[in-house]
Amino acid sequence: MPDYPKGKRKRVINPKTRSRIKKIKDPNSFVLGMLINSAPYYVSGSILADKLNMSRVGVWSRIDKLRRAGLTIEASQNLGYRLAGEPNDFNLPLMNAWMKESRISCKIFTKDQIDSTNSEVERLLANEEKSPFVVLANQQLKGRGRLGRSWHSPKGGNIYLSMGFRPNVQVVQIRNFTLWQGIHICKLLRDHVGTDKIKVKWPNDLYYEGKKLAGMLTEASIDCESIKTLVFGLGLNVNVSSKKYPDGLAQDSVSLENIAGGQVRLHELSAKIIKTILNCFDKTINATDGNELIKEWKDVDELNGKRIQVICGNDHFIGKSSGINTDGNLLLKLRNGRIKNIHSGEIKIL
Ligand code: BTN
Repeated sequence: MPDYPKGKRKRVINPKTRSRIKKIKDPNSFVLGMLINSAPYYVSGSILADKLNMSRVGVWSRIDKLRRAGLTIEASQNLGYRLAGEPNDFNLPLMNAWMKESRISCKIFTKDQIDSTNSEVERLLANEEKSPFVVLANQQLKGRGRLGRSWHSPKGGNIYLSMGFRPNVQVVQIRNFTLWQGIHICKLLRDHVGTDKIKVKWPNDLYYEGKKLAGMLTEASIDCESIKTLVFGLGLNVNVSSKKYPDGLAQDSVSLENIAGGQVRLHELSAKIIKTILNCFDKTINATDGNELIKEWKDVDELNGKRIQVICGNDHFIGKSSGINTDGNLLLKLRNGRIKNIHSGEIKIL
């Protein structure tokens, strides 16, 4: 279980400065927000009681409920309560508390088990759910990948996340959407675990030292050249060690836990990812400068300069990967020196 560092009490809030909050919409998220803000230090039980306008026994029973939902909350008679660890399953109040902490407001649906978060987003969009919104699952039974492949989605601390949008823009305006998301998510993960070795393998995978860390799947519905709905899905290996993956996947996969050398807090990271996806969505549908994309791509390009094989249906080509163009196509330098634009295909590093 990813924990919070231990520490002494940081500050004592004068009870005279306590302010009463009229109506707290989600008391569990509110308590968790206060614990997150103070972690690793304690929050006094009387301050929580005062803010929630309830007795200290009432606070104790609320904390007890949160513990039963998998949160590790330590109690000290003199100091109060402190968040010491969080579960590897998604907990909605904790997720909402981290969203508030990251200053994002976006509706979240958490599922213990689902066929595919992308499919669930499609269903919610069809049911007129207000966009943007997020679906997070602990496990997928029919996780989907690109080119009709499946996405191995075991329970135990990975992120299976999809977001639903209704962009209402021309197809051309989102042509580089997945590439931009890859760049931004890659940079976020680099910062989060402190390494520059995370890269993007064109067009939709995140890699670390030649092993797959994450995959992205963007699916859109189009009506008269206009994008009606857009689903962006991310599968990220976080706290399930790749050693636990089945043969064939174990050797080629890596998780953030493997990279960071310890478990990563799932809720905090998911909130940061959601913020990144939302910001990138706003930026991408207004982005017209393909040269900016080329520049940013260079820094994250897993394939740059490598000898690769591209399989497009029955055709396959071998050459040197030479970056992308303003349309987001992969540039393949063939043996005869000619540059071939690749729109889609399976890429193998030789
Ligand atoms: C790939 O590398 O081929 C893309 C994999 C995308 C997997 C994610 S997991 C969350 C979302 N739901 C799915 O069914 N697929 C995406």
